[in-house]
This record gives sequence, structure tokens and C-alpha cells, in this order.
Amino acid sequence: MAKKHITIFDTTLRDGEQSPGASMNMAEKMEVAQALVDLGVDVIEAGFPIASPGDFEAVREIAKNIKGSVICGLARCNNEDIDRAWEALQYSETPRIHVFLATSAIHREFKLKMDKQEIIDRAVSGVRRAAGYCKDIEFSPEDASRTELDFLCEVIEAAIEAGATTVNIPDTVGYATPAHMGKVIRTLCQRVPNIDKAVVSMHCHDDLGLAVANSLAGVENGAGQIECTINGIGERAGNCSLEEVVMALRTRGDYYQADTRIKSQRLVPTSRLVANVTGLQVPRNKAIVGRNAFAHEAGIHQDGMLKERTTYEIMRPEDVGFAKTDLVLGKHSGRAALADRAKALGYHLTPAQLQTVFDEFKILADKKKEIYDGDIAALVDQQIHDQSDSWSMVAYQVTAGTGTTPSVTLTLRHGNQDITETVSSGDGPVDAMFLAIERITGVTTACKDFRVQAVTVGKDAQAEVNVELEHHGRLNRGRGVSTDSLEASAKAFLNAINRITVHQGAATQPAQATP
Ligand code: KIV
Ligand code: ZN
Repeated sequence: MAKKHITIFDTTLRDGEQSPGASMNMAEKMEVAQALVDLGVDVIEAGFPIASPGDFEAVREIAKNIKGSVICGLARCNNEDIDRAWEALQYSETPRIHVFLATSAIHREFKLKMDKQEIIDRAVSGVRRAAGYCKDIEFSPEDASRTELDFLCEVIEAAIEAGATTVNIPDTVGYATPAHMGKVIRTLCQRVPNIDKAVVSMHCHDDLGLAVANSLAGVENGAGQIECTINGIGERAGNCSLEEVVMALRTRGDYYQADTRIKSQRLVPTSRLVANVTGLQVPRNKAIVGRNAFAHEAGIHQDGMLKERTTYEIMRPEDVGFAKTDLVLGKHSGRAALADRAKALGYHLTPAQLQTVFDEFKILADKKKEIYDGDIAALVDQQIHDQSDSWSMVAYQVTAGTGTTPSVTLTLRHGNQDITETVSSGDGPVDAMFLAIERITGVTTACKDFRVQAVTVGKDAQAEVNVELEHHGRLNRGRGVSTDSLEASAKAFLNAINRITVHQGAATQPAQATP
């Protein structure tokens, strides 16, 4: 019997980007969107166009340039949202408008102050307006899992009648259990008379750690689409993790009799890309894509593995994209080898980008003998960031020691102007460096997080620093990589400052200039 196709709807760029501090710039969003196409995702939710000019622009650029997946934009059930979504989506060859409206009693009473009939009327008018623009319309009754089942059936029937081709059932607050979610989907499939005219979709949040289980329960009971994100990122505890749900369906195809068109070997590279551009690192023990997901420590397990792999392994690491060895390049490697490796890691470099990355690669290869995948990803990510950076680092000098006040002399570049500042203050060289950056850029922040880790193995490994800076109540993350951990810290801080200036709409002017 042929397996049922499950549509994979990825919302990393919309719900995933709503994770605090996970915002991406335009170049990063384009890179992720292309990686999602390469992964075989059916639908990409590119953003919420009315939310901000940046969101609008990202959806429009993705709609214009990314081919191979349906491109979707989110809208509330009102004319202004829907018109704005279409304004951004109209360039796509395969556009989808996703309209949503809360339906649960708690949202009706406290948030919307609307009765049941008003909700149905609003849902119908929203779906109709969207259907006037394109054929592919998704409707979501927000907080569906806490909506009275009879009323949910009524809303869904009306939305399909009005033109919805996908009806998505969100467990918005991550409250459902698998049995509950299974019953909701089963009831909709049995009781809504026109349900065969639409695809039923799952959208589960992970507040109780049940998002994947709830999505699978939906598939068992008739759902044909799963909404998910790379690494499970998203609001609060996140969304259903794409890699987990896809590998559950594939590994247990015998049970679910369903599959997706995801190219599973692209899971690890895509996971790394999203971790790098969002700064949300993947826990080591994360299923499928965590560093330890295929590591066998116990002697009994290792012994079993040596005798027969399947004694302790239900999937092969290479099937999800782990390379047998990631020691790839060295000083004598050429541009073609680098281009090849970057491609395998999921990056699409223009000839000019490749040249810059290659130049940086040669400098790095002089500093460290062995270049790993993690090093290459860091070089390429830096290149992607640099495209939109208004501030960059030129040079620094530092003096610090036990019982002395640290002193940093730092030069930053802004346009074609170099600005130097000396700071003798702070409780250590990193603090002094951050103060110097704030003084030069004129952007004052509160540092909420500062993490240092090694990109790869060995004493000469590059340091990766991640920071989270609060500016006007908004978290902005930054990432910097260098063989010098102080330089990596400065780069991370500057990366976050650059995001702040982009968010403000215009680059911050230098606070003061010294020749
Ligand atoms: O969680 C949710 O309810 C959503 C909707 C907009 C689909 O993200
Ligand atoms: Zn959601």
C-alpha cells in the first residue's frame, strides 16, 4: 500500500523567529529559506507581513526569489492584514495566505470580546477576502485545542465553505495531550461534512514537551499536514521539531503508513545553519541532530554495535546528515574543495562570496592546521552577517592583569570612517572592550547573556561567543568567532549592535570621532 504523503509546513521564519532573541536579518532569512527548499519542505511560512516593515520585506523577497516550495504569509482575519500579506506574496509562483482567528471561549471573552456568531462571520469574511487573491488558503482557529469541539466543527465547516483549502488546528498554548489531539482531529474528520475539501493540519507547541507526539496523533487520525520548525524553535518552549517528526514518520513508516518528501541527509546541515543564524544552540542530547544523538558510551552498547549496528541503533547517522568524519580541509586545500564543502553544509555562495570566504579560510589555515566543518560554517556565517553590518572591527590592543584596571584601545569602521577609543575601566578586558564599543557606536545596552564555547576540538580551536543584549526592551543576539577569544567577544557584541542599528531603521551615528 502506498504511504500517505504528509505535507511539511515549516514555520521557522515566522513562529520560530518569535523565539526571544532569535530574530534574523534579511540575508540570513534568504539563506534559511533556500536551505528549506533544499531540505524538501513543501510550504515555507516566510513571515507575518503586517507585523513590521522588515517582516514585509522578507516575505516579499522570499516570494520573489525562492522557488521550489509554496511561500506562505500570515495574516489576522482583517482586510488590512490580508491585503498586506498579498502585497508581499503576489510575486510567488505558488503563494499561500494563512489567516487566523482565535476561537476558544477564553480568547472570545477576554481578547476579542466577540460572540460565537461574530467569530464565524469574521472567519468567513477573512477567508473570502484571501480567496479573492489566490487559490491556496489556510485557516487557523487559534487556541483550537481549548475550543468547544462542537463550535470548532462549525467554524471549520464555515471556513472550508468560504474557500479554505487547508484547516490548521493549533494547540497554541501546548495544553493538549496525544489522546486529546487525536480525538479533536478524529471528530473533525467524522463530523465536518465538507472536510474532504481541505487538508487538516497540526500546529502544536511544546509547553508540555508533547508537540511531536501530538502532531503524530493528528496524523494517526487523519491529518495531512504538520507545521513545525527546525530544531523546534518558536514561541516559549517552541514548536513541533521538524527533524523529530519527520524521522518518526520515516523510521516508523510501518506503523504510520505515511511519509514526507524531506531529504533526511539535509537535516543536520539545516539544523546547524538555523542554530548559527539564530544563536539558539542545539542541546547535545537533542534527538536526531544533537551532537550525542548517535554517541554510544556504555560498554555493553559499544560491544553490541560492533557485533551488529541495529542492536542499539534505529537510524544511521549518515541518513540524517552526520558526516563520517568532519575533518575536511587544511592549508593546501583549494577553492573548489572549499566550495564543495560549503555546499554540502547547505550554503549557496556567489563567486564573490566564495572568494572572500576563501581569503579568510587561508588566513585561518595559517593559524590552525585542521579546518573542520564547524570552522567553515563559522567563516561563511561571518560573511553572511558582514553583508549588512554597518560597524566592523579594525584593530584592538588590550592590557589587563591581576589587580590592575583593564585598558582597551579599539578601532571600529563605520562606512569609510575609522574611529578609535581608549577605555580604562571595567572589571576585566571583555567588560572594557564592550564599554569601548558602546562608546564608539553610541548604543547603550544591558548584557543579558554571554557564552563562550569551542567551535571544534583541539587547543587551537576557534572560540565562538554568543551574547544577548537588551536594548529598549528588545533582546538582540550576536555571535562572533575567532581563534582569539577576546576578538570573538568583540565581534559578537558588535554583531548584536549591528542588529540593533538595522532594527532602528538606520545606522546609529558615531557618538564621537577621534582621528
Ligand atoms: O500557535 C498558534 O496558534 C499560531 C497560529 C498563528 C497558527 O502560531
Ligand atoms: Zn504557533
